[in-house]
Amino acid sequence: MLPRRAFLTALAGLPVAVAKVARANSLRDLARAKNITFGSEVTCADIADQNYANLVARECAIMTPGIEAKWGSTEPAEGRFRFGPMDDLAQFAADAGLCLHMHNLIWAVGLPNWTLAALQAGRGRAVMQNHIAAVAGRYRGRVRSWDVVNEPIDPRWPADRNGLCTTPWRLGVGADFIMDALADTALADPTARLMINDDDLEYDMPDRDKKRTGYLRLIEDLLRRGAPLHGFGLEAHVKPWLPIAEKPYRRFLHELAGFGLKLHVTEFDVNDRLMPGNADARDALVAAVARHYLDLVLDEPAVVTLITWGLSDRSTWMLRDPTGHRADGLAPRPLPYDLDLQPKKMRAAIADALYFARERPA
Ligand code: XIL
Repeated sequence: MLPRRAFLTALAGLPVAVAKVARANSLRDLARAKNITFGSEVTCADIADQNYANLVARECAIMTPGIEAKWGSTEPAEGRFRFGPMDDLAQFAADAGLCLHMHNLIWAVGLPNWTLAALQAGRGRAVMQNHIAAVAGRYRGRVRSWDVVNEPIDPRWPADRNGLCTTPWRLGVGADFIMDALADTALADPTARLMINDDDLEYDMPDRDKKRTGYLRLIEDLLRRGAPLHGFGLEAHVKPWLPIAEKPYRRFLHELAGFGLKLHVTEFDVNDRLMPGNADARDALVAAVARHYLDLVLDEPAVVTLITWGLSDRSTWMLRDPTGHRADGLAPRPLPYDLDLQPKKMRAAIADALYFARERPA
């Protein structure tokens, strides 16, 4: 028989050992056991590689288009819609048995010049209506959810009294542009779950505190006026150099849940810009940060979706975005799979976080 102390030590180690065995399961299955939906952002370029496509099919239950559904892709010229790339992704999702989270309809970033001009010319409402009817209408009945409005509150932009930043949409359509966009989308696709999606809500900084408060006010107001809003997207592009506001963030999630919204982590990755160059050391740090964030966010039972912004470092947006660029010029490693599609420590961290998460009601 084991001495008592050795027995207790072995017992304490047991969950970890079991979790290690659990890592052999797909992230989809580990999540599904808790009634959480796991998936990734995917682009046409990603799935042009059969190995990447296989990886997506193996790990994911849901996917979201990286660029293919955005305004600039779907309506590059007024009234001339281009659905080829998004159609291909939707077909891939259907063939692989994945559901679709769509991203996005209304965002201040990446708008073609014609749209900015139309907004300035006071034609914003008509342009919005037409776009949403066409794009959300095309995928009607085939999507689980839509990020209808992306990033409407950003403390770095000048804001109106309600904290809504003065983006081209706010200026061109009016203070009710979120309500309008939600109503248009509900009309075009009555079965999709409609969401607002935003980033940087987890940090301990006065302007982020304002952002959390701004959202609670905005959402309360929208729901009071009967807006078809069902969920909130937490982008979670985690920046480890910023301190996380653990208690306020928990409270924020809890209050969103209290409004009856489901919560979805929509763009998870870990920014490794300031981490040491050594790949092993960096991967260990990225994994630790990922686990810490996931344990925190998954502790809120209203969080029912976890989507990473890509599966492999080879397709991370940080290769193109200045926020990902390292001083030493090394490639970023913010995702669960490496350049050769081999699992990294972050993949184990996600598996463990899912394994230890509480089961959601079915
Ligand atoms: C990024 C895409 O990954 C890039 O390919 C594109 O050039 C710019 O947008 N927040 C969002 C996403 O909501 O749409 C962004 O995606 C990443 C930040």
